[in-house]
Amino acid sequence: MSTTANIPSADPCTITPLAPALGARIDGLRLDAIDDAGIATIRRALLDHSVLLIPGQTLTDPQLIAFGRRIGDLDVSPLAYVDGQREREHPEVLIVSNVKRDGQPIGVLGDAEVVWHSDNSYRETPLSYSLLYAVELPPSGGETCFASMYLAWATLPADLKARVDGLEIKHDMTYNSAGVLRRGFSHVTDPVTAPGPWHPVVRTHPETGHDALYLGRRPNAYARGLAIEESEALIDALWAHATGERFTWCHRWQLGDVLIWDNRCVMHRRNGFDPEARRIMHRLQFTGDRPERRGEAAARAPHPRIHGLLSRE
Ligand code: OGA
Ligand code: MN
Repeated sequence: MSTTANIPSADPCTITPLAPALGARIDGLRLDAIDDAGIATIRRALLDHSVLLIPGQTLTDPQLIAFGRRIGDLDVSPLAYVDGQREREHPEVLIVSNVKRDGQPIGVLGDAEVVWHSDNSYRETPLSYSLLYAVELPPSGGETCFASMYLAWATLPADLKARVDGLEIKHDMTYNSAGVLRRGFSHVTDPVTAPGPWHPVVRTHPETGHDALYLGRRPNAYARGLAIEESEALIDALWAHATGERFTWCHRWQLGDVLIWDNRCVMHRRNGFDPEARRIMHRLQFTGDRPERRGEAAARAPHPRIHGLLSRE
């Protein structure tokens, strides 16, 4: 993805950081009528802030897709399909919802809590960005929270850093982030033999060039070459560090919000909400690269936003 350094100064939008470690809000953009400078602003801001809130949108699915195509390559994940969505007119748009029609869910992830994860880490080439557009919201609950894996890596204690140097974790593909068994899979009895790809624990972001911790999701994760007890203890220690409150920010949704996050350097989770309430989000997902660590000196320097944060502490 290229970025444009010269954003015209006449651009009326404003970018406001939302939390110490990550997140920014862009006001003054209409995504159904956005020019190339606006797209360049969004792409730059995504790399700078990892999570971007663009409020106040009114978008049809074709408009959402047209916008998404200008941000990156849209991905359609067969694993993410649910029955009710097969007949959907726009397969690029995945519905995240607890609403049922004729007894069938119209979307994925229901109304329960969704545990910390990075989208599609169970694939060889996980997603780069994911996008949610808020169409219908419950009166309370259903907040989505994000954690900076640039900051988690930058602040990992030296002994843990040394232990994960060159280490890979297997990312189990059996369950989704709501803990539901994916179709065609059977329950995991041993993480060592569970199906899923190996990814490095530390990955270099392919566009910013900075290193980030990459944990994917906790259930059935396994660290290559270790006895299961050792693997469990090490992965537990990494998770205890990575989801500390100072790395995180929670978004309380408003109708019309578009939120885009970078799965290569943040994890996210969702609070549960009242099953009687309705929540409908339209979601896009963007193809990404195979995670890898480049190992150059530049990658070891913290991302500028994290550097700024650490130097103020
Ligand atoms: C997702 C996801 C959280 C939410 O769509 O990948 O984790 O807030 N959603 O619904
Ligand atoms: Mn997710």
